[in-house]
Amino acid sequence: MNLKEKKFIEKLISKYSKSDKQKYFLTPDSFSNEDIIAGAKTLLKKQITMSVLTKKFEKEFARYVGAKYALMVNSGSSANLLAFFALINPMKNKKLKYGDECLIPSLCWSTSLWPIVQSGLKPKFIDIDKKTLNISIEQIKKKITKKTKVIMAVHVLGNSTNMDELKKITKNRKIYLIEDTCESLGSRYKKKYLGTFGDFGTYSFYYSHQITSGEGGMIVCNDKKNYEIIHSLRAHGWDRGIKKNSNKKFNFINSGFNLRPSEISAAIGCSQLKRLNRFKKTRSINRMKIINKLKKSKKWSNQFTFIDSIKNLDPSWFGLPILINKPYLKKKKRFLKYLNDNFIETRPIISGNFLNQPSIKLYKLNRNKENFPQSQEIEDRGFFIGIHVNPINKETLNNLEKKLLKIDEI
Ligand SMILES: Cc1ncc(COP(=O)(O)O)c(C=O)c1O
Repeated sequence: MNLKEKKFIEKLISKYSKSDKQKYFLTPDSFSNEDIIAGAKTLLKKQITMSVLTKKFEKEFARYVGAKYALMVNSGSSANLLAFFALINPMKNKKLKYGDECLIPSLCWSTSLWPIVQSGLKPKFIDIDKKTLNISIEQIKKKITKKTKVIMAVHVLGNSTNMDELKKITKNRKIYLIEDTCESLGSRYKKKYLGTFGDFGTYSFYYSHQITSGEGGMIVCNDKKNYEIIHSLRAHGWDRGIKKNSNKKFNFINSGFNLRPSEISAAIGCSQLKRLNRFKKTRSINRMKIINKLKKSKKWSNQFTFIDSIKNLDPSWFGLPILINKPYLKKKKRFLKYLNDNFIETRPIISGNFLNQPSIKLYKLNRNKENFPQSQEIEDRGFFIGIHVNPINKETLNNLEKKLLKIDEI
């Protein structure tokens, strides 16, 4: 694309982009002109279905996180689906069987959970540690049994559990570990990227995540056989792209789905990946600025508790989780309404204690009516606000201070 064409597209982008400075959004717009041009180019070339840029993105992503293999899919949910369907697949050595148990934190996303059920495994919920928002190692040790064959860890908002301890448990018991890293791309535990500790790591590139391709996801692994299984499952059970010497063109070696990404998403993803380190750094600085601003304010009187990253983690924050302290807790509903009506968009931490969701009742997943006090506390006290990929300015900081420290007046 020459300079004149580039300028023309940039003009169009500025004409059609909307910018609303009246609100502090959960999700900042992180698309650059380069991202849009990269996507537009694939469209102009009429290359919409996955092709060379998807391969390129997979290679660059694998190199970035330090995994042997990466496979792009159309969402983080699809990546989770592939991970669990790989574990029960007949092509897999030591495949799991119907009813095998999978531990999962009670503070999780919907599609962290449902692929476990959809693949015929039995989810067993484990409470979290409210200090990290992540699965509690202590609770795992209490609840793990011989029936447990896999642990689904969910790295919440950029944070993680103690990965040394988690790895020790899965290694000693020779059970599988899946890491739902959809909210934590770029976080490193002892310099190793989250998502690369287990058998599969999954990532999301939905609009609000550390990098975005609009829609999209990635699944990584280090085992060639695992890679071949997820590769075939991604597209119809076909061997296209993995079996180099096959004479037969339409050869279906496995069962399958169609979870293919679009080439447009891959082009945007490639372009965004180049800025992931910068995004991570800016978000971390913005987070500290907001926390410091609140804590140093005259109005600050310990209204909130913030979540720190676990020891040994270099976090890539997704949002800024905030817990309302006890004296103000009764005002939570009114306070969140006030924030959302006045500048600051908020949302629950993931979706709160997932056991409270109607779908749990529908599938009778909590027959014993078990309680998960720490997840419940996060649901009762918690909410989160965005942390943006561009440096936060003074005016926004002042505005956040003014609105967030209104809870005592509400
Ligand atoms: C922890 C977690 N897992 C999975 C997903 C699903 O990702 P996607 O929206 O790309 O399907 C999300 C989405 O936000 C998530 O937060």
